[in-house]
Amino acid sequence: MLAGDVEIVRRVLAHIDAGTTDEGESWREPVANYLDPDRFAAEMRLLRSLPSVFVPSAAIPGSGDHVERTAFGVPLFAVRGRDGRARVFRNSCRHRGVALVESAGCSHALVCRYHGWTYRLDGSLSHVPHQDGFPDLDTSGRGLVEVASAEVDGLIVIGGVEPGANADLAALADGTPWRAKLAPASRMFNASTTVRPMNWKVLVEQFLEGYHIRSTHRETFYPVQYDNLNVIETFGPNSRITYPYRSVERLRGRPESSWTVERRVTFLYQLFPNAMIATFPDRVVLVVVDPVDIDHCAVTTYSMAEPAVVDGRGGEPSKAGKLIADGLLEDNEMSAGVQRGLHAGANRFVEFGRHESAIGHFHRALTERLAQ
Ligand code: FES
Ligand SMILES: [Fe+2]
Repeated sequence: MLAGDVEIVRRVLAHIDAGTTDEGESWREPVANYLDPDRFAAEMRLLRSLPSVFVPSAAIPGSGDHVERTAFGVPLFAVRGRDGRARVFRNSCRHRGVALVESAGCSHALVCRYHGWTYRLDGSLSHVPHQDGFPDLDTSGRGLVEVASAEVDGLIVIGGVEPGANADLAALADGTPWRAKLAPASRMFNASTTVRPMNWKVLVEQFLEGYHIRSTHRETFYPVQYDNLNVIETFGPNSRITYPYRSVERLRGRPESSWTVERRVTFLYQLFPNAMIATFPDRVVLVVVDPVDIDHCAVTTYSMAEPAVVDGRGGEPSKAGKLIADGLLEDNEMSAGVQRGLHAGANRFVEFGRHESAIGHFHRALTERLAQ
């Protein structure tokens, strides 16, 4: 499905020698598709029916661990049961609807803060204080409302949050392309959500091309990476973009059998529609983008590493962590600028070149699904 590590190095070295990058089809996306509230509403309806990444497995490693996220406007939470299974529920008490999970934590049962209705980790309703006040209540039928989900290779994916959604989980439930990179990073050491002033698609786009490395990341990524030099692969609606580090050139002259991409490239997996996995030398970061309105999105970032790395560092941010944070700051500044510029009325469409083809792939997948 995707090239092996040796093949990736071969393609990267060939691009370095020739001064080239992978090219695909160009794309023009109408500006109205970022600003029109009706289009935004149509996207939200679609997104609620599609399978998507909810949270990484590392966010709830043990029984009773739970974490919440509002996915496409719908508050949800995931909890790991005593049986080890991760389940995803609508984040709402069956009494009067209060959110059961307000932040990440761990507990033996889920107790509503309002009147104390209590649910087991499998979602069933176990206790109602003063239950005699509800003569018609059938507790066996009033468990939390579950959303179809599957846990595969380090990710918990949901099958669409629209009631009755019959979305195909298969596209995200086969972790073959990213399993080897994500699975070892089983320890989450940071998670945070920030609302940003840009359309969710503008934020997704910022991860999908290496054309801006020199001008945007002059003092962060450019000294260690290349400008406009990527390998681009697609699988289904998803894609993988390879961002090589200059250290990859040290592999020249060594036997191919000893080649490894570890610490020599960043892989960016775009998992359609709104999740990205990025591999860095000492960590793996999952970024999930939630649309809020035409001009805002909420970005949740989960940072994970191999347990030995996290334990060895004692929680101290590494040099790589600082570089990534600084680089992301630069990206966010540019994306906020894009969003402001969209309102200027200068352009009818946003222009993506042949070297930005992963962005075209994303928009094509979204356009096709909206048309269905
Ligand atoms: S709303 Fe949850 S117990 Fe009343
Ligand atoms: Fe960037």
